Amino acid sequence: MNVAVVGTGYVGLVVGAGLAEMGNAVICADVDAAKVGRLQRNQLPIFEPGLEPLVVRNQAEGRLVFTTDVGDAVERSDVVFIAVGTPPDEDGSADLSHVLSVADTIGRHMNRPKLVVTKSTVPVGTAARVRAAVAANARVAFSVASNPEFLKEGAAVQDFMKPDRIILGVDGPEAEATLRELYEPFVRTGNPLLSMDVASAEVTKYAANAMLAARITLMNQFASLCERVGADVEQVRRGIGSDARIGKAFLFPGPGYGGSCFPKDVKALCASGREAGAPLEVLEAVDRANERQKRVPVAKLRRALGSLAGKTVAVWGLAFKAQTDDMREAAALVVVEELLAEGAQLRVHDPKAMEEARRRFGDRITCVEHRYDALEGADALLVLTEWQEYRVLDFDLAKRRMRRPLVVDARNLYEPARLREHGFTYDSIGRP
Ligand SMILES: NC(=O)c1ccc[n+]([C@@H]2O[C@H](COP(=O)([O-])OP(=O)(O)OC[C@H]3O[C@@H](n4cnc5c(N)ncnc54)[C@H](O)[C@@H]3O)[C@@H](O)[C@H]2O)c1
Repeated sequence: MNVAVVGTGYVGLVVGAGLAEMGNAVICADVDAAKVGRLQRNQLPIFEPGLEPLVVRNQAEGRLVFTTDVGDAVERSDVVFIAVGTPPDEDGSADLSHVLSVADTIGRHMNRPKLVVTKSTVPVGTAARVRAAVAANARVAFSVASNPEFLKEGAAVQDFMKPDRIILGVDGPEAEATLRELYEPFVRTGNPLLSMDVASAEVTKYAANAMLAARITLMNQFASLCERVGADVEQVRRGIGSDARIGKAFLFPGPGYGGSCFPKDVKALCASGREAGAPLEVLEAVDRANERQKRVPVAKLRRALGSLAGKTVAVWGLAFKAQTDDMREAAALVVVEELLAEGAQLRVHDPKAMEEARRRFGDRITCVEHRYDALEGADALLVLTEWQEYRVLDFDLAKRRMRRPLVVDARNLYEPARLREHGFTYDSIGRP
């Protein structure tokens, strides 16, 4: 199939490379000329395990092409995916300007019948607006479908190539048949291709993210309760996770969820609820609680150290989660700003996000190549991201490097008893 993917961010790039890998002819179009230029030279703008070989191979074999000419990509394709960003507007609702501007371009280049697919996460009712924007200029028949993406950053390629399910929001049999043909190679093991109406598909995406964000937030609140009453949230997590109705995933407390999706999608769904006269009170509370949670790590440091002015804090992990270099809405952004405002000096390490950290904070923080270098003269080590390489701590080395043996672990990576044995003062999330 001839496919255009408009927007080559996390989603568009993975979708484009994945569809090319299955043998489709894919043109990825983006307005960011620097990004496109780098991709043409096989330089990936993001770190995502397994993505580079897909891009290199499919580009070499001519199935994957990158361009800044969105109109040309549209004209040469039968299916056009819109995969541009939908950042939050001032009131929390999704800003659809990028999506609608792409829809406008598609309408102007509708040289033969096409299927237009919204891949971006968009509020219910957007497909109708996309249809209207395309129709304003299109002279031939076209359909609009909603095909939300559920990939996780850090495992995006695997999630796209072997999805748990694929949601096809369609308004007729033709659009459904086209999307089924495109996606059948991805579900050969039998995972479902679920067809539904367009509005339900749009709601499904937000509902899934809202459910996951709420689970994390509930665990964070259980953790706060555990701290007050002398219980251990890790025991509670095991206890509830073995209930088949609850399940084990997404029950890890931490410094608050971040990333490019949960925070903005929760806010956007709340906005949709308010607009539709069906307020999502639980979700509004989730959003507020998550913002508060991001302040917990610094509160713990303050409790242990008193004033933070002049103190040196080593931070391990800046990305919003492990296996990604993405710092969008990461707890680290709040933590770093809070620490700097209180006059602390920061020595930071992240296996993949250092470039992004330098871009965001410049010389206000000290970035180090090796994680133990961050501990030099530190009054505390703060662990913010659950990178595997942080899971084993060399106690002797850490103690030699640090001024004070204090560890605040916002990911519960270490055993409290072992740290105490080695003479550390240790605080984590929801454990005695
Ligand atoms: N990142 C994720 O994990 C994830 C997962 C599922 C769904 N989503 C959704 O997918 C969408 C894209 O997210 P992302 O993380 O890939 O965004 P991103 O910010 O990484 O990438 C968006 C890309 O679109 C390009 N773009 C913007 N306007 C354009 C235009 N008019 N024409 C062509 N290109 C344009 C930008 O230059 C950028 O490269 C969002 O709606 C997001 O909510 C993201």
